[in-house]
Amino acid sequence: MRVCVVGSGAREHALAVVLGRTAEVVVTPGNPGIPGSTTQPVEEIVADLYVVGPEVPLVDGLADRLRATGALVFGPGADGARLEGSKEWMKELLVAAGVATADHASFTELEPALAYLDTMPGFYVVKTDGLAAGKGVLVTESIDEARDAVRSYLSGDAFGDAGRTVVIEEGLTGPELSVLAVCDGHRAVALAPAQDFKRFGDGDAGPNTGGMGAYSPVPAATEAMVAELMANSVTPTLTELRRRGIDYRGVLYAGIMLTPAGPKMLEYNVRFGDPEAQVVLPRMTSDLTALLAEAAAGKIEHEPTFSTDAAVTVVCAAEGYPQAPRSGDTIHGLSDARALEGVEVFCAGVAAGEAPGSLVTAGGRVLNVVGTAPTIAAARERAYAGVAAISWDGLAHRSDIARAAAQIVIDTDDLPATSEGRRP
Ligand code: AMP
Ligand code: GLY
Repeated sequence: MRVCVVGSGAREHALAVVLGRTAEVVVTPGNPGIPGSTTQPVEEIVADLYVVGPEVPLVDGLADRLRATGALVFGPGADGARLEGSKEWMKELLVAAGVATADHASFTELEPALAYLDTMPGFYVVKTDGLAAGKGVLVTESIDEARDAVRSYLSGDAFGDAGRTVVIEEGLTGPELSVLAVCDGHRAVALAPAQDFKRFGDGDAGPNTGGMGAYSPVPAATEAMVAELMANSVTPTLTELRRRGIDYRGVLYAGIMLTPAGPKMLEYNVRFGDPEAQVVLPRMTSDLTALLAEAAAGKIEHEPTFSTDAAVTVVCAAEGYPQAPRSGDTIHGLSDARALEGVEVFCAGVAAGEAPGSLVTAGGRVLNVVGTAPTIAAARERAYAGVAAISWDGLAHRSDIARAAAQIVIDTDDLPATSEGRRP
């Protein structure tokens, strides 16, 4: 089978590698660090299956346009992609589906928005309704900061039209979990859970980013918990989509907070998480190509299975990320990192350097180093050994990815069922 992956980040690199176990893969536009990349537009590429990576083309209706030509496409149409394209719509759908989520209201006018903030008990979350590359969410205990955000969002100054509707919600606390479910329009099957690290700095300090690292499996996410989340949240969401006439074939990525009052849905994304995919997909022991092709065709026939090995990824970012990443720094040590046992490197913000085969930085999140090993602790060591082999001027990374999880002694009987004997 020939598969065309649309996108250019480390998520698409991971997709290409794992799909590449069982398919011929071409990636558009890809990047110079992803083998099989082509600048040929997707419309001109002949493939048996198209897999759309990022949210922006999905919200723009790329999956609809490809399907209109008779192509087999993994990724929701513009109707379903609204789940990520409009947080107001997503919240309304969650309530209609009976899925637990933070108390919230949405506004287009300043005065009622400020009045609503005044009714809240001191922990504020302000979100743009529309897409803002993961940066349109402010979580704060300062009412002044929350008010300023509401003003700058609604005026269009901060995020243009994406912020002209704001969603204000109660602040929740608890560990976060990402459950990525593959949907065929009728049924959703969960992939192995992951946890990502959204803040830039160690100890969750600093600004929100697209994600600075991730690991899978998650000791706190037992098989029973994932089954319950699927039954109480993801499946009702898919059913509600269907009730509205939306045939959702793609990933429903549930961003969940495990609050003291039970799990609550923070958001849905309509695509694989980045960097979650980089730790979830390499652990798959079943055929990803077959799974996505079955989902795209409207009937998942085989449940996905996962290795008991753990995977940890550390994002290596450019100087200045997330505000103003610097480009053009030469990347050293990629092949040294890749030569290490259990280490893989996925490329995101890279461009071809002047020397043949060399790469330079060309974006905020530049590389993902992934370590895989029988335990989270060992996978973490491998990931950081890989990071230590790589250098460029201004390379930034967190040093505490999966540190806490690596210290947890797991009751291995509680982990989701897997296909191999060893458990992390
Ligand atoms: P979202 O894009 O909606 O997932 O928000 C990005 C991040 O902001 C989440 O991963 C959380 O860390 C944080 N966040 C979002 N909503 C809330 C909330 N209601 N309470 C606390 N933190 C939140
Ligand atoms: N890792 C967060 C996201 O993909 O949106």
